[in-house]
Amino acid sequence: MITFVTGLEGTLIRIQEDPEARYEFEIWFDYTRQAMNLIREGALLAVPNFASNHAESHRSILEVVSILPIHYALGDNPQGYPGFVVEAARSAVRDWEEQESEPTEDVTKIRCIAIPTNLEIVERDGQSHLQEESNLPMVGARALLLDTPSTEYVLNSGLPQGVPTFTVGNLVRDPLVGVKVSAEDLLRTHFAIFGFTGAGKSNLVSTLVDKVLNAFCAEEPLQEPPREQVKIVLFDLMGEYSVLLADWLVKSPDACLLVLTEETLPEDVLQFMEQPTNEAFSKALTALAQTTLYPRALIGRRSDFRFAWRRLLNPKSARVHLYREKPPTLGKLVERYWNPRGTLGKNDPKIRQEVRNWIATEDNTPFDEGSAPKLFEWIESMFDSGLLSTNDARESFQSLRDAADDAFRRYISPRHVHDAFQMTLGELVGRLNDPHSSGLYVVQSHDPDRLRDFAAMLGEVMFENRRKSGKINPLVVFVFDEADEFIPQRREGADDSYGRSRFVVMTLARRGRKFGLGVGIATQRVRYLDTSIMAQPHTYFVSKMPRQSDRQAIAEAFGISEELFGQTFKFKKGDWLLMSHDAIGLEAVPVPIHCEDANRRVEAFLDHLKAEWQRSREMVRTRE
Ligand SMILES: Nc1ncnc2c1ncn2[C@@H]1O[C@H](COP(=O)(O)OP(=O)(O)OP(=O)(O)O)[C@@H](O)[C@H]1O
Ligand SMILES: [Mg+2]
Repeated sequence: MITFVTGLEGTLIRIQEDPEARYEFEIWFDYTRQAMNLIREGALLAVPNFASNHAESHRSILEVVSILPIHYALGDNPQGYPGFVVEAARSAVRDWEEQESEPTEDVTKIRCIAIPTNLEIVERDGQSHLQEESNLPMVGARALLLDTPSTEYVLNSGLPQGVPTFTVGNLVRDPLVGVKVSAEDLLRTHFAIFGFTGAGKSNLVSTLVDKVLNAFCAEEPLQEPPREQVKIVLFDLMGEYSVLLADWLVKSPDACLLVLTEETLPEDVLQFMEQPTNEAFSKALTALAQTTLYPRALIGRRSDFRFAWRRLLNPKSARVHLYREKPPTLGKLVERYWNPRGTLGKNDPKIRQEVRNWIATEDNTPFDEGSAPKLFEWIESMFDSGLLSTNDARESFQSLRDAADDAFRRYISPRHVHDAFQMTLGELVGRLNDPHSSGLYVVQSHDPDRLRDFAAMLGEVMFENRRKSGKINPLVVFVFDEADEFIPQRREGADDSYGRSRFVVMTLARRGRKFGLGVGIATQRVRYLDTSIMAQPHTYFVSKMPRQSDRQAIAEAFGISEELFGQTFKFKKGDWLLMSHDAIGLEAVPVPIHCEDANRRVEAFLDHLKAEWQRSREMVRTRE
C-alpha cells in the first residue's frame, strides 16, 4: 500500500514536453517552513492521471528535481523603486518565518519542477500496485508526497529478485530511505564516477568495492549452483588504495597489492622481501607507514596501519607481490626471436639445423642469470662458425642478440625477492578466473606508463582468454581511477602506452559485457576522456562539475537534461546524483544520494585489528 505525508497537498500547474525526460512538470505547494524541509530534490509525488476511471485510480509518480520558494510580492526578478523592493523583501521575510506548519498567506508558494519516473500507482478496491505509467497526469490535479516507506518501496521496486543487491547510499533529503543497487548489473554494464577534484571519487570507489564484496561474500548456506563470485582489479595510479581499501586487502578471501615496479616500494620493504627477518620486518612496516599517501582524515592513524600491513607482508600469507614476468626458456627465446628474412645463402640448411638443435636441447632450460651467458656464447659461436655468409643471415642473429639483451633486462632483475612476494601474469590470470572465491587486486606502479601497459596487457589477455574459452564466470571488473590517464582522447599518429590502454579499455567496455568483464571509471576530467567511452557505462555517479562543458558531455551521454545537474551545486562531500539504465529500481531517473565515508569504515577496521593484536599480546603475557 502506498502511503503519503498527511496535510501536504500540491497542485499540478503545468506540463511541458521535454526532449530528454519526455515531460517536465511544475507543481505548486502552499508554503510552510515544514513543507520546505520535506519537499526536496529526490522527493516523489503522486498525481492522478488520465488513465483513472470510476473503478480504479491511476496516479503518476513524479520526482522533484528542483524547488524554489516564491513570494508574489517579490516575483522572480525584483525591479522598481529600490525603497519599495527592500520594504517588500523585509515584509516577505515575515511571511517565510511565520508560516511554520500552517499556510496562512496566499502570496507564498513552493514551486517544484518534477520529471516522470514512468511509474504509476493503480488503486482498486483498497488494493494498490505499481506499474508502468499508462497516461499523462492531469493539470490541476492534486499532488501528494510519498512518505518514507513508500518512497523506499518505489525507488527500489524495479530491482530484480534473487540477485546480490546492496544499499549504495541514502536519499539526501531523507536518510531513512536506502537506495539499492544490483551488484551484477552495476559491474557488468559498467559504471562511471564524475566529480570535480576533492568531490570524493576515490572515497566512493572504496565504498563501492566494499559494498560489492560484501554483497558477493555474504555468507549463505551452500547454494546449488554455487553462487557467482566477483574479482575487482583496481588500477591505482596515485597509490591511495592500500589505505582506502586496507580492510579488504586484509580480509577478502583473495586479495593482493600487486606492485609492478621495484621503485614503487621503499627500499626497506624490498630488503625485507629479499630477506624476511624480524628486524627487517619492523623496518619495512615503518617505511610503509611513513611513505604511504593518506587522506587527511586518516593521517592521525598512520601508525595503526602497521596492523594491516603486518598481515599483508607476512611471508606465510603474503598479500603484497612484486610483478615478475616469467621468462621464456632458452629454447623458446630463440624460437620466438630468430626470424630470418631474405636469404641465408648456401649454408641455409646447416644454419637451420643448428637452430633446430638448440631449440630442441634447450627447450626446458630456464632463462636466468646462470644460463643466460650460454645463450650469448652460442650466438657468438654462430658468428664465428663461418656459416653466416650473407648479410641477412648475420642480421637474423644480430636481432636475436638484441632480443636476448632486452629479455635479460626485462626478466632478470638484480633483486631476488622471496618467492612468496612474487607474482606472474599467469598466476594473476589464474586467480581472476578461479570461480571459488571473490577477490580484490590493487595494482600500483610509480611509473604511469608501466601501469597503462600492464592494464592493456592484462585486459587483452583476459578478454582473449574469455572469448576463446567461452567462460563468463567469475565476473571480473577493471576499475580505473584517474580514468583520463587510461582512456584519453585519441591523438593522431601516437603509438604509446596511452593508445594501448585506451584500445583495450574500449574493447572491454564495448564487448566485455557478454564475457563477464566489466569496467568502472572515475575522473574529474570528462573532456579529456575519449568521447566514445562516455556512452558505455550504464550507471553514473555525478557530483559537482563546475564546467558546463563537462555537465553537457555527461548529460548528452546519459540522455538526460543538463538542468538536472542544477541540484549537484548544493552537494556536500559524499553526495552523488545516481542514475542508471539497469542497476537501480528507477530506470534513467537521477536519484540524489549520500554515500558513507570510506575513511570511517577503514578506521573501524584498524580499531578491530588493534584490539585483536592487544588481546593476543595479553594472552601471551598471561601464559608467560
Ligand atoms: N562520503 C564522504 N563523507 C565524508 N567525507 C568524504 C566523503 N567522500 C570523500 N570525503 C573526503 O573528501 C576528501 C576528498 O576525497 P577523495 O580523495 O575521495 O576525492 P577525489 O574526488 O577522489 O579527489 P581527486 O580528484 O583529488 O582524486 C577526502 O579528504 C575525503 O576524506
Ligand atoms: Mg581521487
